Amino acid sequence: MNKLALSAALAAGGAFCLWQNNGLERTQYTFASPRVPEAFDGFRILQISDLHNKVFGRGQRRLLKALEELSPQLIVVTGDLIDKRRTTPDTMGPALDCLAGAARIAPTFYVAGNHEEYCGFYPQLRQAIRETGAVNLDWKRVSLTRRGQSIGVMGAADPNFFRGPADPWGQAAFARRLLALAGEGEEFTILLSHRPELGGLYAQAGVDLAFCGHAHGGQLRLPGVGAVLSPGQGLFPRHTQGLTVQNGRGMVVSRGLGNSLFPQRIGNRPELVAVTLRRVFHKAEEKM
Ligand SMILES: [Fe+2]
Repeated sequence: MNKLALSAALAAGGAFCLWQNNGLERTQYTFASPRVPEAFDGFRILQISDLHNKVFGRGQRRLLKALEELSPQLIVVTGDLIDKRRTTPDTMGPALDCLAGAARIAPTFYVAGNHEEYCGFYPQLRQAIRETGAVNLDWKRVSLTRRGQSIGVMGAADPNFFRGPADPWGQAAFARRLLALAGEGEEFTILLSHRPELGGLYAQAGVDLAFCGHAHGGQLRLPGVGAVLSPGQGLFPRHTQGLTVQNGRGMVVSRGLGNSLFPQRIGNRPELVAVTLRRVFHKAEEKM
């Protein structure tokens, strides 16, 4: 290969890698359930996950424009807003710009991921989040009301916050806390939780629709192979993207927006997820 052809190939490869890491993709799902109240039929929820403090234009302009175009009525942020290796209290501006911009578009709820636990400055981040207008929903449950009907939104901070000698990944304490929080309500309930590998627990807690991240889409998605690698699930992970529905309960896994240890995405561009709730009727109701 001569020098000119080599230069062209390197430039094309570099441009491709940049596009794979920065070209935003929008994914839209519909989640239908007879438990969705009539007033929430058509309600649009947008999910942001795993930003890892990534920058999408000055002041996150490109990201916020895409958010606005999806016309959300609620925005949920499912952890890893910052990156434990690359973010300090002095450099969390991109993460805060994202939250503040989101909160100007629609009510915005946030929960912490494993990077917030590991970073060592979560109390400072939490204080800064308070000033963005977004709501920190770590271990909280709120009701959203429209035309006299309500849905519940609850938030679980990452299991790692509970880790200790007797519970190295914190999952036992996490499960206890989640089941206690879920016991507080009967209405259609959304959960924000970073971890997609705990879907069985979310169903046990009676969650109607869980929003998760963490898996980064498997980082590389190769034809014929699928997702290659994900934190918490290792090689060839199962829960890396998409909406799955089992026994009427749903779980959305976002591929996320940024990167952590592994710096490149392939076949797996940064993703914004929008979910529209739909009320479907029980057979008995249809006959009425
Ligand atoms: Fe992440």
